Amino acid sequence: MNQLEKDKKPILLSGIQPSGHLALGNYVGAMRNWVNLQQDYLGIFIVVDMHAITVRQNPAELRKQCLSFAAQYLAAGIDPEKNIIFIQSHVHQHAELAWILSCFTYMGELNRMTQFKDKSQRYDDNINAGLYTYPALMAADILLYQTDLVPVGADQKQHLELARDIATRFNNTYSPTFKVPEPFIPKAGARIMSLQDPEKKMSKSDTNENNYISLLDPPDVLKRKIKRAVTDSAHEISPDSLNNSAIRNLINIYSALNDISAAEVANQFAGQQYSSFKGELTDSVVNLLEPFQHRYNEIIGEKGYLSDILDEGARRAHSMASRTMSKVYRKIGFVAPGHP
Ligand code: TRP
Repeated sequence: MNQLEKDKKPILLSGIQPSGHLALGNYVGAMRNWVNLQQDYLGIFIVVDMHAITVRQNPAELRKQCLSFAAQYLAAGIDPEKNIIFIQSHVHQHAELAWILSCFTYMGELNRMTQFKDKSQRYDDNINAGLYTYPALMAADILLYQTDLVPVGADQKQHLELARDIATRFNNTYSPTFKVPEPFIPKAGARIMSLQDPEKKMSKSDTNENNYISLLDPPDVLKRKIKRAVTDSAHEISPDSLNNSAIRNLINIYSALNDISAAEVANQFAGQQYSSFKGELTDSVVNLLEPFQHRYNEIIGEKGYLSDILDEGARRAHSMASRTMSKVYRKIGFVAPGHP
């Protein structure tokens, strides 16, 4: 495929903050879909380091995680020939457009963002302005590339809606400049919940590492975490298991990894002890993650390869972004350099 054909595909864009550990929930809920969509979309996948610093990060750790996350995108099967993968801070237009868009975002809108309210409770010693204006940066990430579709989980829906409002506001104030992006809701698939607290989403930044399965957990750790996952007081799988949130979560994970419905899993394992079902589940997870980790180790061990991909991604992103930025600057009335 040549460059022109590639550019004609609709654009799908997503970002993940390089903090915590990419977890099985990220794979099943996001990365796996990106891989399946890469035939039909030009995927733009950003490691959003600028978002990550709204919460204090350890610098050495942040640097390591940025590269590790990019390598995990590739290990999951995202083809760098078909997609654009880069690190947010490598493309200066993100910061530039974020500033402009923050002048088109009302404080009243930002005050309503539930993630800001949650995070300012969780990190109450560091309620910084970046944490507050973060949705304008996220809108910039999306609008810079004339994005068609943004896959969003429940927790990011409000931010995407705001990005749409900001785009529409700007377009109405001047003239059509930004494409107004649509949310992409992946076809039904259960949310993967925490292994210790099945009422909570499996979060990559959970402080208790028994709550999540990291994509980089070695087999013995996977086995231990699954073994310790909470269950109910029954001892064996039955169709009724689907009514218990803890067992249902384990069944859902098995179902997602083996592409069979949760009801079928419950039937197939009916009468089996939880411990033996957990053994089967561990095998499924290891089957997925062993080859994933093998590819990851190859990629991360070959630094030149990864940095070439990230440089090329940033170069292509930069060129798309600069087209949008020159329109934006012209419309708002900035003088073009060299043309006084
Ligand atoms: N805010 C998102 C999160 O915390 C990450 C993100 C940043 C993002 N920019 C984005 C997601 C653009 C989708 C599109 O998960």
